[in-house]
Amino acid sequence: MSVPTTMRAARITGHGGPEMLELAEVPVPSPQPGEALVQVSAVALNNTDLWTREGAYGRPEDPDALSGWRGTVDFPRVQGADVAGRIVAAGSAADAGLVGRRVVVDPAIYDAEGPDANPVGLMGSERDGGYAEYVTAPTERVHDVTGSPLTDDQLASLPTAYGTALGMIERGRLRQDETVLVSGASGGVGLALVQIARARGARVVAISSGSKVDAVREAGAHDVVDRAQDVVGQVRAAVPEGVDVGLDVVAGKLVGEGLPLLREGGRWVIAGALGGYDVSFDVRRLYLHNAQVIGSAMHTPTHFGLLMDLARRGEIRPVIAATFPLDQAARAQEELARRRHVGKIVLHP
Ligand SMILES: NC(=O)c1ccc[n+]([C@@H]2O[C@H](COP(=O)([O-])OP(=O)(O)OC[C@H]3O[C@@H](n4cnc5c(N)ncnc54)[C@H](OP(=O)(O)O)[C@@H]3O)[C@@H](O)[C@H]2O)c1
Repeated sequence: MSVPTTMRAARITGHGGPEMLELAEVPVPSPQPGEALVQVSAVALNNTDLWTREGAYGRPEDPDALSGWRGTVDFPRVQGADVAGRIVAAGSAADAGLVGRRVVVDPAIYDAEGPDANPVGLMGSERDGGYAEYVTAPTERVHDVTGSPLTDDQLASLPTAYGTALGMIERGRLRQDETVLVSGASGGVGLALVQIARARGARVVAISSGSKVDAVREAGAHDVVDRAQDVVGQVRAAVPEGVDVGLDVVAGKLVGEGLPLLREGGRWVIAGALGGYDVSFDVRRLYLHNAQVIGSAMHTPTHFGLLMDLARRGEIRPVIAATFPLDQAARAQEELARRRHVGKIVLHP
C-alpha cells in the first residue's frame, strides 16, 4: 500500500492541561534501518499520558518540579504508548517480509540488550507515540499477533497496563494459591492485575469503589473491598490468614496500612502513587517478617514476551470502557481523569 507523506497527530506542546494537546498535520515518520512503520489502528490511553502532559512526575532533587517520568520531555511530543496496528513499511530491505503483519508495539526503551533489561524510556514520552495515524518502532520491539483472537482495541490495551501488571506479578514472585491484594483494581493496571493473578491461580482480593465493584468481581476478583470504608478491616475479614503479595498502584497511606496485612516473607509491590507518593510505614513490620517492598517500573523484554504469548492464545480479555476518534484526544484524557470508567479508553486514528 502507498503511504502518504503527511498524517494527523495529537501532540503536546508543553506541560499543562488538556489544552496542551493539539491536533496537527505532520510528516509521516520515515522508518530507519532496523525500524518498522506501523499504521495505527488503535491506541490506548494510560494514566502516564496525563502525568506526562501535566509534568507530574517530579525529580529526585525536587519532587514538585514539572517533569516527565525520566526527566525533560522534548516538545512537541506525540503521546501514546500503547499501539496496535499493521506494518506498512520497513527501514531495511531484509525486513520487507514484515509488511502486512498485525502487531503490538513494545513501547519500552531499554537500558541494555538482553531479556532482563530495564525500561528507561517510553514511546509517547521519550520518543513519539501512537496518538497518530502512523508511528515508527524498532523491529525487535514489534510483536506479530496476526492470529490473536483479540480485537485491535484489546491488543492496544495490553502494553502498558498488562505489561506493568505482569512486571509487578513477576517481580513480586507470585505463586499459585497465594493471596494477593490489588489496589486501584478498576483501572487499567488494576484490572490487568486481577485478571493475570486469577489466571495464575491466586486468591484475589481487590480494592475498588462504588459502582465499579461489580465489574472488578466480574474480572476475576474473589473479594472486592470498598476503599470508601475501612479497607484493613474488610481485608482482614476476607482473608484472616493475611496476604502474600500486595500489588499496589495507589500507595499513599495504603502502604503503611497494608504492610501489617502481609504474611511472613510477603512482598509489597508498588507501581503507582495515585494516593500520594510521600509514604510512611512502620519498618518493624518489614524486617521482623522478612517482608519486602519492591518498586516496579513497567516490564522487561521477557515479561513482554510472556504477555504477547497470552495475547496470541487469547488468555486475557481486556475490557474496553470507551473509544474516541483521534481529534477528541483531549476529551478522552478528560474522561480518563474523571475515573468513572472501568477498563481501557482507546483512540482510533
Ligand atoms: N510503574 C509503572 O511502570 C506504571 C505503569 C503504568 C501505570 N502506572 C501508574 O499506576 C497507576 C494506575 O494507572 P492506571 O493507568 O491503571 O490508572 P487508571 O486506569 O486511571 O486507574 C486507577 C484506579 O485507581 C483508583 N484510584 C484513583 N485514585 C485513587 C486514590 N486517590 N486513592 C485510591 N485509589 C484511587 C481508581 O479505582 P477505584 O475507584 O476502583 O478504587 C482508578 O480507577 C498510576 O499512578 C500510573 O501512573 C505505573
